[in-house]
Amino acid sequence: MTVSLSEPGHVLGGAQSARLRPQDLERTQWAESSPSAAQRRRAGLRDGCSRRVDHLRLSVISACEMRCVYCRPHGHRPDEHIHLSDERRLEFVRFLHERFGLSQVRITGGEPLQYAELARFVSAVRAALGDVSVALTTNGRLLAKRAAELRVAGLDRLNVSLDSLEPDRYRQVTGGVLGEALAGLWAAVRAGFPPPKINTVVLRGLNDHEICNMARWALTGGLEIRFLEAMPIGPAAAFNRRRFVSAAETRELLAEEFDLVALPETEGATARRYRARGSGSVGVIGLIAPISQPFCDGCRRMRLTAEGRLYPCLLDSRCVDMSTAWGEGGFCPVTAERLVTDAVAGKQAQGPQPQTAAMVALGG
Ligand code: 5AD
Ligand code: SF4
Repeated sequence: MTVSLSEPGHVLGGAQSARLRPQDLERTQWAESSPSAAQRRRAGLRDGCSRRVDHLRLSVISACEMRCVYCRPHGHRPDEHIHLSDERRLEFVRFLHERFGLSQVRITGGEPLQYAELARFVSAVRAALGDVSVALTTNGRLLAKRAAELRVAGLDRLNVSLDSLEPDRYRQVTGGVLGEALAGLWAAVRAGFPPPKINTVVLRGLNDHEICNMARWALTGGLEIRFLEAMPIGPAAAFNRRRFVSAAETRELLAEEFDLVALPETEGATARRYRARGSGSVGVIGLIAPISQPFCDGCRRMRLTAEGRLYPCLLDSRCVDMSTAWGEGGFCPVTAERLVTDAVAGKQAQGPQPQTAAMVALGG
């Protein structure tokens, strides 16, 4: 269920829109204060704890052909809602960037590569946002087919989820075919992407015995691997609590084979990164510990689901329905601004939990 952080925005329409369209209202209001528009943009979007929010995770599709046990267990069906059109998504992204300034957009799903119009959408985002970094998180299955067109479209970087290097285990954990994900990963490198970062969710009794093996494989291949703590989210919450392995435990296992030296932390980063040396290789390994060492202090993210719901926090079920920013007169920046600022103002210092929505809808 969508719970509004604020009253749904009032969208001008009907008789009113004949006299004053939302665009006119915006022009009037912004024109009056035009010198301060640049100042307001510099100030950016701030949440209730003064954190700057300038990273957008943008889900383009809520469907995914995989069944990762920590995300959407068997039997889980995604809600069927009407998706926001690409045109509206672009309008919204452009608005956020012009009004508040964005520094990163990460395209997510479901599985974003299942979205047929993805390459076209990426090039439109790239054209609209200039030098803002545009990244994408994928399970990799369709990358062999689509990496080249995504690179041409202007996508900067990729994260690929990979939870096992044992084919049977990979199938058990994700429902997918390991060879397809690996083929996709290397196709992306051949297409000119920087080496993708690998995301591995560590699960007790399923892939925790593979931690060193996966790290060795990644370092040898010149890839940065990040081991994630499983988050208790949506329908997989109880499962993830039972299978939880802390980042500290993962680190101890890694330390049996690798010398780990902590790298300086960068603001807003989710991973603690280590220079790793061992088994004849050297590289970087990351640990992402949203549960044992929450990184909420430096959180700069908000999430827009494929249906247009804006979630200021992954661990908070409250969201606003951005589709109400479109009325008869089209997109209303005044309404959008109120919805976004109200939602973000309600973002708490730490995710209050529980999150009842499934990760597959939230985009990770
Ligand atoms: N806990 C931690 N990571 C998760 N992901 C999906 N669900 C969870 C969870 N419950 C990861 C996926 C993917 C990214 C989008 O989020 O592995 O890499
Ligand atoms: Fe699909 Fe990613 Fe969820 Fe796995 S984690 S089911 S690949 S959305």
